[in-house]
Amino acid sequence: MDNSLKIILGIETSCDETAVAVVREDGKILSNLILSQLKEHEAFGGVVPEIAARTHMEHIDKLIKGALDDAGVSFSNLDAIAATSGPGLIGGVMVGMMAGKAIAAAHKLPFIGVNHLEGHALTARLTDQVQFPYLVLLVSGGHTQILVAENVGQYKRWGTTLDDALGECFDKSAKLMGLPYPGGPNLEKMAANCQNPAQALKKFPLPTPLKGRDGCDFSFSGLKTAVRNHVEKLPEGDLTREDIADLAYSFQITVGKILQDRCHNAIQKFLSTYSKNCEIPTLVVCGGVAANSHIRDILESLTKQANMDFMAPPMTLCSDNGAMIAWVGLEKLKHDMLDTLDIAARPRWPLDPTAEKRPGGGVKA
Ligand code: KG4
Ligand code: ZN
Repeated sequence: MDNSLKIILGIETSCDETAVAVVREDGKILSNLILSQLKEHEAFGGVVPEIAARTHMEHIDKLIKGALDDAGVSFSNLDAIAATSGPGLIGGVMVGMMAGKAIAAAHKLPFIGVNHLEGHALTARLTDQVQFPYLVLLVSGGHTQILVAENVGQYKRWGTTLDDALGECFDKSAKLMGLPYPGGPNLEKMAANCQNPAQALKKFPLPTPLKGRDGCDFSFSGLKTAVRNHVEKLPEGDLTREDIADLAYSFQITVGKILQDRCHNAIQKFLSTYSKNCEIPTLVVCGGVAANSHIRDILESLTKQANMDFMAPPMTLCSDNGAMIAWVGLEKLKHDMLDTLDIAARPRWPLDPTAEKRPGGGVKA
């Protein structure tokens, strides 16, 4: 073990993954344990906050021990503890954060409260050392934003969803199609079964809200409603497998068109605002929906046309994990951005507190 490099334990419990990781400052992930609560929430077709918090509580201790064992370290080898302090389901956030604070207090270690969104946004620095400033498309179950990552703790939010988050739209549309939870990955699998793409697009046309408009905001509720209308128009009884594959395909293509349009605007703005400040302009996609291959392909060709680099984290680091939280901890430790043990859990915690509030944006703004 190289003792000159700092090591942090990262804890993530803001949604339905109990995740703990140990990461070293050179970006080596020494351990990364994720316990998905799929079974607990499946019957309800979505995450139930109370059940999530209780399940985190049940598993957090053994995950922390497991992550330390896997990494071959003990508490005395750690330089700090980082835990998600928001935004997210508050009961779950409190379980992870309190566990982190207790370890920090008992072992006299610094504590760092991490913004979950910053975890997603900085993953590209953990995996690929992307330099600031860079453009970020953050697409998860709770958020859909276009940001500029200027520095640790310093973000400009250029766009956000005015209604549903993209992951939420994937999940709700998948549910309407009768696909099991979690909807996003299952919808992608189903779309791959589409036999006749041209016919599918004709049979199930879908709207592209805000396409062609200025700015970088998103809207997805109209898309979800259109999926519902298609499903309701089909004959009574179960949808055929072919119908579902066609509708899923049309949905995914439409999402691609929306992202292409919104990101095109963001790329133009980024290049005109920041090109002097960065050697290689880069677009980073992150959050659970970044695991979608069609979305990755669309963004990759968009950046190619703009002479920009494109970075997408490996699939395992797209959805929620402890490594991204530990990494933000390491970045903040370097900047001496430590927290005291009275830091509160925050259900809402915008990365850019100066960003204009959007009507109807709610928690997701
Ligand atoms: O970042 P994440 O793990 O949790 C939040 O912070 O929300 O994102 C979860 C979201 C879910 O809505 C899930 O359906 C979606 O990411 N997702 C996908 C795919 N994999 C996960 N959506 C589309 N295609 C995928 N392959
Ligand atoms: Zn997330």
